Amino acid sequence: MKVLGILGAHKRQGLTGQLLTEILKAVPETEETEFLYLEDYDIKPHTNQPNPVLNELIQKLAESDVWVLAAPTYWGGLAGTMKNFLDCLRPKLVYQKKNGDTIPGPFKNKHYLSVTSCYKSTLENFITGVTDPTFKTIDTVMSAAGVIKVGELVLPNTFDMKTLPPAKIKLCHKWGQKIARKKRKDDSTVKRYIQLFFMIAVMALATMGIQVLLGRVLPLTNFLANYVSFVLIFFILLASILHYVTFVKHRRR
Ligand SMILES: Cc1cc2nc3c(=O)[nH]c(=O)nc-3n(C[C@H](O)[C@H](O)[C@H](O)COP(=O)(O)O)c2cc1C
Repeated sequence: MKVLGILGAHKRQGLTGQLLTEILKAVPETEETEFLYLEDYDIKPHTNQPNPVLNELIQKLAESDVWVLAAPTYWGGLAGTMKNFLDCLRPKLVYQKKNGDTIPGPFKNKHYLSVTSCYKSTLENFITGVTDPTFKTIDTVMSAAGVIKVGELVLPNTFDMKTLPPAKIKLCHKWGQKIARKKRKDDSTVKRYIQLFFMIAVMALATMGIQVLLGRVLPLTNFLANYVSFVLIFFILLASILHYVTFVKHRRR
């Protein structure tokens, strides 16, 4: 299997580049790795004209099983070089239907890990989620392309930082080893069912607790009132938690 590290940043040897280098370093020697620095390429959108640069990059994507997409957070979002790369790739990542909808293209079921860094402190990023839009943009593109997410790695607090803290190096090595393990098409099905079970168990408990509290002020004694209030409370709680898990929650520390 092959792991392709893709860096979209102003600096090749910057902190995001160092994170990527450490991840690739930890991939077992039996597997192939490649470090791709997007600034080395003059990436232009795909048109009807020949585009050898984009074709070369597409070939590299096709040959790899896991992509590590590494880009710093610039202006509260994904760094432009990486964004431009993903924008230019669009017609190769998804097939477009006649009505404009898209379906995953030829890279469906490959895997990706996203990596970013920012100046904001760990606490600020934890509270405000400065790096969330960076991860969200990558996730939006990859999910349209049917590429499966393996995880996220973030390095906050980079102001005045020159080299990676030992704890982050250790984490990079952990990811390097993890992404190299052979993947089944989507190996998180069992995990998702377990998460779903616990989510429902907790939601049902919370719903019944809220019903008991509501029962002190509202007449929820008959079966129908009990049932309707259960459905409404359960729906609101479940919708909120699903929104949080799907759209809001990103690694921030
Ligand atoms: C153009 C530009 C915009 C930036 N915007 C932000 C920002 O909005 N929030 C933040 O926390 N850091 C911001 N930074 C800081 C970078 O995210 C930070 O320095 C990052 O670690 C750089 O990674 P590098 O060492 O790989 O270049 C910005 C840096 C640049 C160059």
